[in-house]
Amino acid sequence: MNIILLGPPGAGKGTQAQRLVEKHGMRQLSTGDMLRAAVKAGTPVGLQAKAVMERGELVSDEIVSALIGEELDSLAPGQGAIFDGYPRTAAQAESLDVILASRNTQLDHVVELEVDEEALVERITGRFTCANCGKGYHDTFEQPRQLGVCDKCGGTQFKRRPDDNEETVRTRMVEYRAKTAPILPIYDARGIVGRVNGMADIDHVTAAIERILAD
Ligand code: AP5
Ligand code: MG
Ligand code: ZN
Repeated sequence: MNIILLGPPGAGKGTQAQRLVEKHGMRQLSTGDMLRAAVKAGTPVGLQAKAVMERGELVSDEIVSALIGEELDSLAPGQGAIFDGYPRTAAQAESLDVILASRNTQLDHVVELEVDEEALVERITGRFTCANCGKGYHDTFEQPRQLGVCDKCGGTQFKRRPDDNEETVRTRMVEYRAKTAPILPIYDARGIVGRVNGMADIDHVTAAIERILAD
C-alpha cells in the first residue's frame, strides 16, 4: 500500500508516519528529512537547498522528485511507502504518478490532515526530536516519558530545526496554501482522499488514519 500524508507544516505528517512505520513496517519517505540529511552532509543538493529551506520556500521539483525516485528503489519488494511532505506541487504530483507507474505500483490513499493554522505555530515552535533516532516530541503535547531521555532509544541529546521559527513557519504556510493545497482536487477526482481532523489528539488522529487505510 502507498499513501500520501498531506497537510500544512505542523499538521502531524511526520508524527503519524512514524507510527505507521512502527505498526505496519511501511517506509516513511519524507523529502524534508532527505533534504535535511543532504544539508548536513554538505552534498551539492544540500548546498542548493539550505538557504531555500531556511526561508521556508520550496526546493525545486527536479531535486525532490529525484530524491524520491532513489529512495523508492531501496524499498523491499512489496513494502508500502508513506509519502510525507511530497508531492507539494502539481508538477511533483505528476512525477509521482510516473515514478510509481514505472515501478508497477500506484497510490492507494491520500490522507489530508485538516488543521487550524493558528495552532500550528505553537506546534512547530514547541517541536524537538531525538538527535540519535529522530523520534519526534513536543514541549507541551508529547514529552518523553522520562524527562530528557528518548522513549525509543534512550538517547539524551535532542535537536530543533532551524526553520522552526514563527517567521519561517508563516512563509511555509503561504507556500502550502498557494502550491500544495491546489493539488488536492487531482486526488479528489480519483476518489482516494480521506480527511482526518488533525486537531484531535495524536492517538485519535492515528485511529482515524487506520480507519481510512482499512477501507
Ligand atoms: P518538511 O520537513 O516536510 O516540513 P513541513 O511540511 O513544513 O512539515 P513539518 O515537518 O513541519 O510538519 P509535520 O506535519 O511533519 O508535523 P509533525 O508531525 O512534526 O519540509 C521542510 C522544508 O523542506 C520545506 O519548507 C521545503 O523548503 C523543503 N521541502 C520538503 N519537501 C519538499 C518538496 N516535496 N518540495 C519542495 N520543497 C520541499 O508535528 C509538529 C509538532 O506537533 C510535533 O512536535 C508533534 O509532536 C506535534 N503534534 C503532532 N500532531 C499533534 C496533535 N494531533 N496534537 C498535538 N500536537 C501534535
Ligand atoms: Mg515533518
Ligand atoms: Zn531516540
